[in-house]
Amino acid sequence: MDIKIRKTSPLQMKTSCMVICACEKNFSNPLLKELDQKLGGLLRKAQRNGEFSAKVDEQILFQPAGHLPAERVLLVGLGPVEGISTEKVRRAAGHALQLVAEKKFGQMGFALPPDGEGRGREYAAQIQAVTEGLLLAGYRYDLFLDEKTRILRKLPKAVTLVIETKQDKNRCEAAVEKAQKLCRAVILARDLVNAPGNIKSPAFLAEQARAAADGSALKCKILGQKELAKEGFGALLSVAQGSAREPKLIILQHNGGSKGEAPVALVGKGVTFDSGGISLKPGEKMDEMKMDMGGGAAVIGTMLAASLLKLPVNLVGIIPAVENMPSGTAYRPGDILTSLSGRTIEVLNTDAEGRLILADALTYAKRYQPKLVIDLATLTGACIIALGHQATAVLGNDQELVQSLLNAGEKSGERLWQLPLWEDYDQQIKSSVADVKNTGGRPAGTITAAAFLKKFANDFRWAHLDIAGTAWRDQDQPYIPKGGTGVGVRLLIEFLHDLAAAK
Ligand code: BES
Ligand code: MN
Ligand code: ZN
Repeated sequence: MDIKIRKTSPLQMKTSCMVICACEKNFSNPLLKELDQKLGGLLRKAQRNGEFSAKVDEQILFQPAGHLPAERVLLVGLGPVEGISTEKVRRAAGHALQLVAEKKFGQMGFALPPDGEGRGREYAAQIQAVTEGLLLAGYRYDLFLDEKTRILRKLPKAVTLVIETKQDKNRCEAAVEKAQKLCRAVILARDLVNAPGNIKSPAFLAEQARAAADGSALKCKILGQKELAKEGFGALLSVAQGSAREPKLIILQHNGGSKGEAPVALVGKGVTFDSGGISLKPGEKMDEMKMDMGGGAAVIGTMLAASLLKLPVNLVGIIPAVENMPSGTAYRPGDILTSLSGRTIEVLNTDAEGRLILADALTYAKRYQPKLVIDLATLTGACIIALGHQATAVLGNDQELVQSLLNAGEKSGERLWQLPLWEDYDQQIKSSVADVKNTGGRPAGTITAAAFLKKFANDFRWAHLDIAGTAWRDQDQPYIPKGGTGVGVRLLIEFLHDLAAAK
């Protein structure tokens, strides 16, 4: 999909399908009036019939039969003017692309509502959102499908974003380019999450991180079993010991800030397959546990995006990558581990493995003297019970950091919801034989998991994102096809962007 910007009127452009955004109760703007005229009143009629009233996610296709240069016009709804957000624009663009691809239209034009309709100065941000919606909606994981099946779905070759003459074309072009880089990173994250467990060993994940570094200015370091043992990654190695596959610690670095400036550390859970281990999971939906490295994928994607976008910050990405398997060499319930921090951990359930590998990764992050640390993990099923698939849970030891993440969530459309992390919850993870135990029972499962991590994060400002509900979707969304979502990349880039701007 080649995406270009052009200053013209959507009613004057020749294309296979011209997509025009409309707002609810706002059919009287000059553009829609003229369109209705050219369509011989069909638009008004559709509105009166209740066929199309420009509600969010509504669309209607017209064939102007020679009265317009465009062969077809697709109207998409954005809801009420006052409520237009970048997220609604992203959804509308994604929705439109789905229809254009389904119908195999070769070209596509896209026009935002005329300026002044609920938008004002945010024009470039809207153009970025359109581009994101298109590129992310166009994604499918088709690596293992034959050629024939793959080309059944055809994306338009050329997409033209139509802007008004008074807009700044250069700024719009920069917004498209930014979205293209960002989406390349989101798509990498999705590809990694969607990769099946037979292919996706910890070593595979490490190779993919290395490849991303080779294609950018990132630095990459990989620690293997031997080095991890020498350093004393006791918790991580215990989780890994049931698998025939060697664990890896992946470290990526982006030096976009000034020399000597403390980095932001991003830590991502990289369980390439989570069978539960000896505390084996039930069979139903176990296949989905190939997504248990969604946090790691988000970190690899964010690091790539930061590098491509040349973000003026220093970053270190740390991904503990392991496979959690039952076997004769697997760790067991009842085991007492000595973590990298020296703290001992009583294992009560081998399926609470994510917090174990993260504990060591957080301890390791300290070596970079980070100014703040954010971890992302598909950590608890309880998070899906609490928030469903609509929001990522955020918890942390620094309210200012949590608030910045909440803000970035609103802006990026990757929404967060905060859960409390009161000391009271520590009760639930007290052990009588070790410093801490790895499960806190059923109540507040997402919080007690975070309370566990907090013990390994007390030397820095820290926030934890539980993406168990958001890293994977089993139903198509307008710009998120089912499977790995790549969640976290757009959120973190937004956050880092704000952080750099506040410097
Ligand atoms: N990877 C899972 C959490 C998960 C579940 C992510 C469903 C996405 C969808 C995690 O390792 C896990 O198994 N957590 C346990 C913790 C429990 C044993 C304390 C859980 O949530 O059941
Ligand atoms: Mn588990
Ligand atoms: Zn897991």
